[in-house]
Amino acid sequence: MTYPTPILPLKLEDISFEAGGKRLIKDLNCTFDSEPRSVIIGPNGAGKSLFLKICHGLISPHTGHVRWNDANEKSVRLNQAMMLQRPVMLRRSVSANIHYPLKLRKIPKSERNTLVEDALTQAGIARLRDHPARVLSIGEQQKLALARVWALKPQVLFLDEPTASLDPAATHAVEEIIRAIHAQGTKIIMTTHDLAQAKRIADEILFMFRGRLLERNPAASFFEKPENDLAQAFVKGELLWWRLGKTNRRNTDKQTNT
Ligand SMILES: Nc1ncnc2c1ncn2[C@@H]1O[C@H](COP(=O)(O)OP(=O)(O)O)[C@@H](O)[C@H]1O
Ligand SMILES: [Mg+2]
Repeated sequence: MTYPTPILPLKLEDISFEAGGKRLIKDLNCTFDSEPRSVIIGPNGAGKSLFLKICHGLISPHTGHVRWNDANEKSVRLNQAMMLQRPVMLRRSVSANIHYPLKLRKIPKSERNTLVEDALTQAGIARLRDHPARVLSIGEQQKLALARVWALKPQVLFLDEPTASLDPAATHAVEEIIRAIHAQGTKIIMTTHDLAQAKRIADEILFMFRGRLLERNPAASFFEKPENDLAQAFVKGELLWWRLGKTNRRNTDKQTNT
C-alpha cells in the first residue's frame, strides 16, 4: 500500500524517561523504517512497554526527541495505532466497536460498512458481530482490537505483548492477523517476552535490558548468535538477575545506537 504522506521513518534521539527518581529509559537512539517487523524483547521491567508508549506519544520523554517523517501532528496521530495487552472496548456491539473510529474519521457509511465486514471476516469474528464487545473472551477481544486496526489501515501498529494472556490456539490466530496486517502494508513494532513468538514474527530484534537498547540485529543472526552477552544469556533462557555483578553491570552501559 502507498500512503500520501509517509509518517515513517520514526527517529528516537537521545530519549530518556524518569519516574520515582529513577531513570527507566536511558539514552535511547534508534530509527524505524517502514518494512521490517521490529520486535522488542527483554526481561520483565526492561522498559519495553515504556519504549512503545514513548514512540506512540502516550508518555513524553524527559530528554530527547521523537521525530516522525511527517511534520503534520494530526496526520501522525491518525496514521498510527497501539494495541495494549488488555484492549479497551466500548460498551457496544462488536461491529459498532469497529464502526466507531471510522465514523470519527468521517468515513462515509457505505464505505464504512465494507471496511467493517472485511475486518470482521479477516479477524475471524464475523459470527460475533452483534455480541456486546465487553462479554467477549480475552482472545476474542484481541481479535476485535486487531479488526479495528485492520479497518483503519494505519501506517504503523504498536503491539504491547499482544498474546500475553492467550492460549496457544488464540495466540496462533492473533499472530496470523498480525501477519495479514503487515502484509497489507502496516509497519509492525511489537514487544514480547516470548522468544518463540519473537522467532515466528520478527524480521529484526531489539534487545532491551534495564532501560537500555543493548542490541539490534536481523532476527536470523540475532537468534543464531546474539552479540551482546546479556542477550546471549536471555536467549539461552538464563535469568539475568544473577549476572548483575560489577563486571556485567558495565556491559549494560555499552548501548547500541541504531
Ligand atoms: N509510570 C511509572 N512510574 C514509575 N515506574 C514505572 C512507570 N512505568 C513503568 N515503571 C517501571 O519502569 C520499569 C520498566 O517498565 P516496563 O516498560 O513496563 O517494562 P517491560 O514492559 O519491559 O516489562 C519497571 O521497573 C516499571 O516498574
Ligand atoms: Mg511490558
